[in-house]
Amino acid sequence: MEHETTLIVTIVMSLVLAFSFGFVATWLKLPPLVGYLVAGIAVGPYTPGFVVDAGLASQLSEIGVILLMFGVGLHFSATDLLTVKWVAIPGAIVQITVVTTIGVLVATSWGWSFGTALVLGLCMSVASTVVLLKALDERNLVNSANGRIAIGWLIVEDLVMVLVLVLLPALAGMLGGKTAQANGMLDGNLALSILFTLGKVGAFGAIVFLFGPRLVPWLLGRAARTGSHELFTLSVLAVALGIAFAASKVFDVSFALGAFCAGVVLSKSDFSHRAAEESLPLQNAFAVLFFVSVGMLFDPSILIREPLHVLAVLGVILIGKSVTAFSLALILGMPAGSALTIAAGLAQIGEFSFILAGLGMTLGLLPSEGKDLILAGALLSITLNALAFTAVKPLTLWFSTKFPLTARGEPARRERLASLQKKLSAASKQAQPVNLSLQPGEMMNKFPVFASLNPIQRAELLALFKPRSAAPGERVIRAGDVANEMFFISSGAVEVSVGSQTIHLGPGDFFGEMALLSGGRRSADVTAIDYCLFLTLDVKDFRDFIGRHPELKTTLDEVARQRAEMNKRETEQNA
Ligand code: CMP
Repeated sequence: MEHETTLIVTIVMSLVLAFSFGFVATWLKLPPLVGYLVAGIAVGPYTPGFVVDAGLASQLSEIGVILLMFGVGLHFSATDLLTVKWVAIPGAIVQITVVTTIGVLVATSWGWSFGTALVLGLCMSVASTVVLLKALDERNLVNSANGRIAIGWLIVEDLVMVLVLVLLPALAGMLGGKTAQANGMLDGNLALSILFTLGKVGAFGAIVFLFGPRLVPWLLGRAARTGSHELFTLSVLAVALGIAFAASKVFDVSFALGAFCAGVVLSKSDFSHRAAEESLPLQNAFAVLFFVSVGMLFDPSILIREPLHVLAVLGVILIGKSVTAFSLALILGMPAGSALTIAAGLAQIGEFSFILAGLGMTLGLLPSEGKDLILAGALLSITLNALAFTAVKPLTLWFSTKFPLTARGEPARRERLASLQKKLSAASKQAQPVNLSLQPGEMMNKFPVFASLNPIQRAELLALFKPRSAAPGERVIRAGDVANEMFFISSGAVEVSVGSQTIHLGPGDFFGEMALLSGGRRSADVTAIDYCLFLTLDVKDFRDFIGRHPELKTTLDEVARQRAEMNKRETEQNA
């Protein structure tokens, strides 16, 4: 293969095969993620046939990790987490401890060293956010109390893992891997090197969370005003990747943590959050590459070489994790059905385990057999996850008949769940962005310009309006263009540029009337600086309507006259 095309071939082969196998997976009622992993195995070095460049694939997958973690940060809601904290925090922490301990016991019984067994145990203790969100989404559970608890539980798990990722390099030497010095950390005193690592993370967090919420929306706003939507989308990616890169280069913080923080910063304002959601397609594409490159690392012969070890790992993930999660959720006061749903959602492993296994290998803490076991465990547990969810209902029934004692406490548990659901709904209502699409009926009251119209005339106008939207940076009107329509702003904001002066218009304001009234060309540039919804009136309907309603024409004429005068003054001043 010619050298210059290696990157293209890697991307094309990975995406095409991921699509094909992902398609087959959904057809088999399996999560597409299974298909992506299988695609990776197919183009990996352990299976015959075509092999893509593993080095390149792993770099591309690094971008996938960054964007995945960016997405997790973007959807991180501190309010939601606080509402379910009484289950999620103790649940996740105790579960990680118990499952890691089980993992350590199992692996040491194979003769593995403590450090190696610890990494394997940790890898098995954390579930995949991507898999959980997909599973909940398919069952319409994302916004249910059970779903929120499971997501909150996983966020805590993710946060613990972020801490593990940060601390592992410092502890590697002590656990039998490469020394902290070899990992580029302070030599000598272990406590000092941990303190130093945490200090750097703290400094990074402080800078990002102190300045980020002010700086980022300002930067995105500037990008929106350039009048190029492309530049605006690019600004979001630049912020996400830039923060992640700076995190790793300047503060020695992992790419994953940096990207997570970037996501959290962007989720703080509604504007930035929606902007960031626009980068999701790219996020999805690179996340797929991440799973493909993980599949490439998998050596399927492990299934024949070490079938018992694979079964043991699968047992810990499927049974150990779900029994622990189920018992903890019950102890923490959840109804049996909810506890089972949470247990099913968490009975799998995914991206964090891969990231951790990769770090374990780099640090000399995990042999390649460990990585293969994790990959086999992930592949099988993700595949079987749909079955785990199907088992929830019959198991709940079985549980209530077999354990009537626990069933006695059920009404109180259900009540607690119902009140939690209420709290969550209230919180999510509060967090809803301002109503983006006002009802046209209410809208008429929002536009003072229509005050002179009676209800029949308003209804008539309503029928003529056509909705239109614009994203930040979109130039809605270009100075000098022929005029086709007039705009009423339903939500969002625009910036009118006349010479060196800029005027902001918001909900209830209108623009584009001057050229329609004068019959001339557009007098100014109008650019969306937020996500906008407009009601538009085309030129023919406009002329028709104001012809029949001279009082409205008078109002519009007056506004247009004032605006033209203002612009004239501005041009004269500049001349
Ligand atoms: P039109 O000339 O059709 O297209 C550009 C629009 O910008 C114009 O109509 C007005 O609606 C709006 N516009 C121009 N100048 C001003 C101004 N000084 N203040 C507010 N809006 C303006």
